[in-house]
Amino acid sequence: MHDLTAAPSHSDHNLFRSDVVDGLSCLQKTIPYRWLYDERGSDLFEEITRLEEYYPTRAETAILRARQPELREFAGPGPILIEYGAGAGVKTELMLGSLAEPRGYVPIDVAHEYLLQTAHRMERRFRSLWVRPVERDFLSAFEMPTDIPAGRRVGFFSGSTIGNLDAAEAEAFLLQMLRHVGPDGAAIVGVDLVKQVETLLRAYDDSEGVTAQFNLNLLARINRELGGDFHLDRFRHVARWNDSERAVEMHLISLTDQWASIGQRRFHFGEGETICTESSRKYDHERLGALAERAGWRVSQAWEDDKRLFSVFALSPRAARSPR
Ligand SMILES: C[S@@+](CC[C@H](N)C(=O)[O-])C[C@H]1O[C@@H](n2cnc3c(N)ncnc32)[C@H](O)[C@@H]1O
Repeated sequence: MHDLTAAPSHSDHNLFRSDVVDGLSCLQKTIPYRWLYDERGSDLFEEITRLEEYYPTRAETAILRARQPELREFAGPGPILIEYGAGAGVKTELMLGSLAEPRGYVPIDVAHEYLLQTAHRMERRFRSLWVRPVERDFLSAFEMPTDIPAGRRVGFFSGSTIGNLDAAEAEAFLLQMLRHVGPDGAAIVGVDLVKQVETLLRAYDDSEGVTAQFNLNLLARINRELGGDFHLDRFRHVARWNDSERAVEMHLISLTDQWASIGQRRFHFGEGETICTESSRKYDHERLGALAERAGWRVSQAWEDDKRLFSVFALSPRAARSPR
């Protein structure tokens, strides 16, 4: 196994603290969603993906499975797969298995343990594959490893993680992915589609309460890692539809008038006041196409599952040197 290119644990701790303190000081208290994914949060997310109500993983996997020949053709021979937010890499094996003799795999994630496990698994599963995990915030500016093998680079961004980014972040992300793969590269992006609000809300507030545990784990993480004193039983998970943003939002609602501390800092929560912990924006083809265009991409192909819940987009650089 190769070393991680970066393991920024100390600066990560400081960043976590400043993101939480700054976020809880805003009028609408907000904590960036990436902090949901410590090891416990990543385990809970994997549990969520197996829930009956959480359709996105099943729908995306069905598309990737049904479109294996098209994905192989689109990526071309001997590609390097660069996966942003790889997580447990559940779809990675399917994706790498679809490609024609993939040469390299670069998973990128902030969840340390999951990143290493996924990298190890792919190395074992695909014996001649060059694997290099990169522990980075994919929204920060960074370079690809310099010793990456030659071959067409294909960005892979699954799980509708693009929906967690606001418009400016999504555009900056797609621009950076274009820079990483170059003008001869390509990208595969999985996107959750706008649909009936009840279906969406059920996916983010399941009957077994796993999503609630996932959300509340953020407060537990603040207590563990930042010395916070949040009482988890004084907050409840809620999922809300924000129509103007076309997003499902996860909030933690304060059940009582209360204070909580993180070190020397104290924060007041009125009864019913919320902390927004995640926004999952939903797209349609037009909006995704327009976003991709703004960031220098064009939609080559788009595939949906049979219930039209989810879509996988094949993107090519608009200024591709050799259009496929
Ligand atoms: C919604 S999960 C998707 C996981 C996987 N791609 C899938 O489809 O099942 C999001 C993943 O992105 C990672 N992640 C979230 N924000 C990130 C960031 N800013 N930089 C790097 N990784 C991030 C999380 O740790 C998590 O593994």
